[in-house]
Amino acid sequence: MDEYSGGEQKRPALSRRTLLGSSLALGAGLVATSLPGTSPSLFGAPVQNEKEKTLLILGGTGFLGPEVVRAAGAAGYTVTLFNRGKTRPHLFPELEKLRGDRNTGDLAALEGRNFDIIVDTSGYVPDHVKRTSELLGPGCRRYIFLSSVSAYQDELPGLRNEDFPITVLDAAILESVKTIPESFPHYSGMKAHCELAAEAGAPGKTFNIRPGLIVGPGDRSDRFPWWPHRVARGGEILAPGAPDSAQQFIDVRDLAEWLVRSAEAELVGVYNAVGFPGTVTMQELLHGMKIVLGADCSFTWVPDDFLLEHEVGPWMELPLWIPSDGKHDYGTEKAIQAGLTFRSIADTIRDTQAWHEKERGDAHKWRTGIAPEKESKVLAAWREHARAEKQEL
Ligand SMILES: NC(=O)c1ccc[n+]([C@@H]2O[C@H](COP(=O)([O-])OP(=O)(O)OC[C@H]3O[C@@H](n4cnc5c(N)ncnc54)[C@H](OP(=O)(O)O)[C@@H]3O)[C@@H](O)[C@H]2O)c1
Repeated sequence: MDEYSGGEQKRPALSRRTLLGSSLALGAGLVATSLPGTSPSLFGAPVQNEKEKTLLILGGTGFLGPEVVRAAGAAGYTVTLFNRGKTRPHLFPELEKLRGDRNTGDLAALEGRNFDIIVDTSGYVPDHVKRTSELLGPGCRRYIFLSSVSAYQDELPGLRNEDFPITVLDAAILESVKTIPESFPHYSGMKAHCELAAEAGAPGKTFNIRPGLIVGPGDRSDRFPWWPHRVARGGEILAPGAPDSAQQFIDVRDLAEWLVRSAEAELVGVYNAVGFPGTVTMQELLHGMKIVLGADCSFTWVPDDFLLEHEVGPWMELPLWIPSDGKHDYGTEKAIQAGLTFRSIADTIRDTQAWHEKERGDAHKWRTGIAPEKESKVLAAWREHARAEKQEL
């Protein structure tokens, strides 16, 4: 039984999702049809809003940020963005945009400003988060920091629930990183220390979210999107590792909507946001893609050791594949209890592929994915290996 057949998985029923969608749409409709500064009344005459709800995103124009803008707008927030104006500055012309740079410490545009909710999606350096949380913490109701499951200590075995030890860095390393690095040699520890900096600057108001892999339309990392693209191309596909290896990921839209709902629900503390209850296996995911995309393809499963011997690289060359001895599982229960919900994986697959085809198309230069010639070569070697093994028996 796989998760697409709606059997044993505890996937939220379609009706729950549909209800959420319609309530957001209804909310958006109400906002759109009411006068500025007023709310629609059930009895016709507009009533004055008690107070405008404000939300600031430190960032906002990459992958998660735009979805937070949409979810917050639908929930009735007035949204402001703070960033350098380098990443897709054309987005959201209707919003207030404050310019500054966390790398140079230029936060002048934020001084003297108060916002109900701060969403920090661009915090990678603890000192940056210290500055913004100290500046904005006193005037806000909630400081939401986007951390990562990378914050957990990597070497220890076991399921990573929220109380699992986090990475601790030497003061010398912390001191040495002043700007957001191009690559992240200390990403794990930096995120862990950013969480602490957020809590120190906005004590009792900080909500630290630890996502795993974030996926969905707009994902320019090319990790998840490579798979629907590869499946849609069809033919014999090199399927990596163990078919029953668990996959954890969260749709960017589910994360953004929960993040905004969490602000209303007054959540504080640390929460993983990694994906579904139960297990979604790699096999279920790939077969799901085949069905959803109507692809004419077959999967040949090649084990970890063989792929490593043939110099196939985990994660970027074959996205989502991590050899089983390096893989970690992360607890999902706390966030689900706190209202995190999930659209169907079929929606994520379909929408990601549709986004890729519409926005990028055939001309796209993939940053991930095994080259077709190498894939064919490894598959031929695997067939040869399997034939030789059979003859030995
Ligand atoms: N993607 C994943 O799978 C994943 C997994 C776990 C955790 N996360 C976390 O989720 C968060 C989401 O990231 P996102 O990129 O999607 O967020 P985003 O808010 O959509 O995009 C990043 C924003 O940061 C701004 N920015 C970059 N450098 C800046 C600087 N020096 N000063 C001020 N603003 C700056 C960028 O604009 P400008 O360039 O114009 O300044 C951009 O608006 C990150 O914290 C990431 O660590 C992601």
